[in-house]
Amino acid sequence: MTKYRKAVVLGGSGLIGSRVVDRLRKSGVEVVSASRRTGVDTLTGEGLDKAFTDADVVVDASDVHSFDKETLRKFFTVSGENVARAEVAAGVKHHVTLSIVGVDRIRGNPYYAAKLAQEDMASQSGVPFTIARSTQFYEFFPTIAGGFTTGSVVGLPNALLQPIAADDVAVALVDIALSPPKNGPVYIAGPERDRFDRWLTRVFKLTDDPRSVEVDSKATWFGATLENDSIVPKQTDYSGHLKLEEWFATPEAKRALLGDRYAEAVAAIEQERET
Ligand SMILES: NC(=O)c1ccc[n+]([C@@H]2O[C@H](COP(=O)([O-])OP(=O)(O)OC[C@H]3O[C@@H](n4cnc5c(N)ncnc54)[C@H](OP(=O)(O)O)[C@@H]3O)[C@@H](O)[C@H]2O)c1
Repeated sequence: MTKYRKAVVLGGSGLIGSRVVDRLRKSGVEVVSASRRTGVDTLTGEGLDKAFTDADVVVDASDVHSFDKETLRKFFTVSGENVARAEVAAGVKHHVTLSIVGVDRIRGNPYYAAKLAQEDMASQSGVPFTIARSTQFYEFFPTIAGGFTTGSVVGLPNALLQPIAADDVAVALVDIALSPPKNGPVYIAGPERDRFDRWLTRVFKLTDDPRSVEVDSKATWFGATLENDSIVPKQTDYSGHLKLEEWFATPEAKRALLGDRYAEAVAAIEQERET
């Protein structure tokens, strides 16, 4: 492990960022959690210079929620430029970008194109870097299911998925952040690999979701045609240990998958206990 004293987590209030902030603090590093709610806006550059003062390492776990190609491209490239400029000025020793397995392999998905541009900004900045490419988070399953639902049927691409719990991603990112820069990619993935439809069948069984699941050979990954192994890693440097069903045992995981139905489920369990 490298001896870093101060870290900045961009997107420190997010799903992954908040977990990275907690774990870095527990490891004894001083951490700035940076996002718009703490006065740091990567898109305008506001607050970056102050946040990066004396920082050794920066973990970028920020994100923008949009389906618009131009909004995505702008967020990741303009933010990438602003972050790189501020890091060079502050003498940051290690930049970590949280990216996605497959960004360099698939075409036609605007989000992946924007993430690839973000990776390029980080690798060309002159700051020593590591690109941490992760597979999909378990917490992302409701978005996946929603994106492929027509009526009561979920028609999914004929491809493999190797998802991972957000907690396991955070463990990997902290290790990556405190290790020497790789100046290249490392790969983070979950403990099991299976086809999309089999994953969604497991998720729906856990959440009592009545939708039926099928393989749709015409389904694209938000615009990109997938090969069998387009979004699973060829090598795994960091493997998550939590299997889907073990992960789902925690209230936080239940809340992530059940959404609005979580409160209902808790009330039903409490009523069952009382009777
Ligand atoms: N979903 C997946 O399965 C998956 C898989 C692999 C990799 N990833 C990558 O993982 C990363 C983190 O995802 P996540 O789900 O943890 O994100 P998230 O929960 O949506 O959090 C996004 C964070 O970005 C911050 N943010 C948004 N706009 C900002 C701005 N202009 N300036 C500064 N901060 C800003 C937000 O805080 P404020 O609102 O306070 O600004 C928030 O802290 C993403 O880059 C994504 O590409 C995701």
